[in-house]
Amino acid sequence: MSTATDRKVIVRIKRQDGPEKPSRWETFHVPWRPNMNIISCLQWIAANPTTAEGKSTTPPVWDSGCLEEVCGACTMIINGRVRQSCSALVDKVSPDGEPITLEPMTKFPLIRDLWVDRSRLFNDLKRVKAWIPVDGTYDLGAGPPIPQELNDERYPLSRCISCGCCLEACPQYTPTNKFVGAAVISQARLFNDHPIGQALKSERLAALQGEGGVHECGKAGNCVQVCPKQIPLLESIAAIQRQMTVFQIKKFFTG
Ligand code: SF4
Ligand code: SF4
Ligand code: FES
Repeated sequence: MSTATDRKVIVRIKRQDGPEKPSRWETFHVPWRPNMNIISCLQWIAANPTTAEGKSTTPPVWDSGCLEEVCGACTMIINGRVRQSCSALVDKVSPDGEPITLEPMTKFPLIRDLWVDRSRLFNDLKRVKAWIPVDGTYDLGAGPPIPQELNDERYPLSRCISCGCCLEACPQYTPTNKFVGAAVISQARLFNDHPIGQALKSERLAALQGEGGVHECGKAGNCVQVCPKQIPLLESIAAIQRQMTVFQIKKFFTG
């Protein structure tokens, strides 16, 4: 009978040395410890880069920052589901000791192994001016009061960690098209609904009406299923589509 000390976690990692290199699978046997997460498995493997077959290999590469599901950097596909590896506990992911598979997200360019480049998401946030325009050179005093009802509506949207899970799951978001995806649309809503942020509302909507804009969403809702922060993305998409209709009617009459 195996004891806690000799129990091994079987981790299968999709390895790729660079964007143009071939991929391969490697399996590792990681000593089990209570409450370990996927990142702790990766850390052990990086310190002991020998496969289950005894072959020496390079330490796997991944991204991470906060280690508490806040930065989104450690997002990868774990047993076929996109999620953060820092909050994925081994005993939950593999309750009966089944092998755990780790793959990089597929919609962003691969850098190496489990590490991808999420720049497109941040560039798209810039494209829709996902911020509140303030002059930071002097003390502006208190901002305008925001009704509690609006605060309650906006708060869930502010929980986005730019992880990219919603983009990975979205059939309309591909590595080569320009669709901005649910996270960016939802952030546009967050800032459009802010009393100061709405100064840029028409610019945000203009950015969202062209190629890659909100009309490219097929509304299947895969994004909502995988969002780790339970952001009401379909509500955001519907809200932006309503704002877009008003924007386009106004534009039609004002030129
Ligand atoms: S509703 Fe579907 S098509 Fe639209 S952003 Fe979400 S996953 Fe993509
Ligand atoms: S909306 Fe959700 S899934 Fe999409 S980037 Fe933000 S936190 Fe991640
Ligand atoms: S390391 Fe920041 S979300 Fe996992």
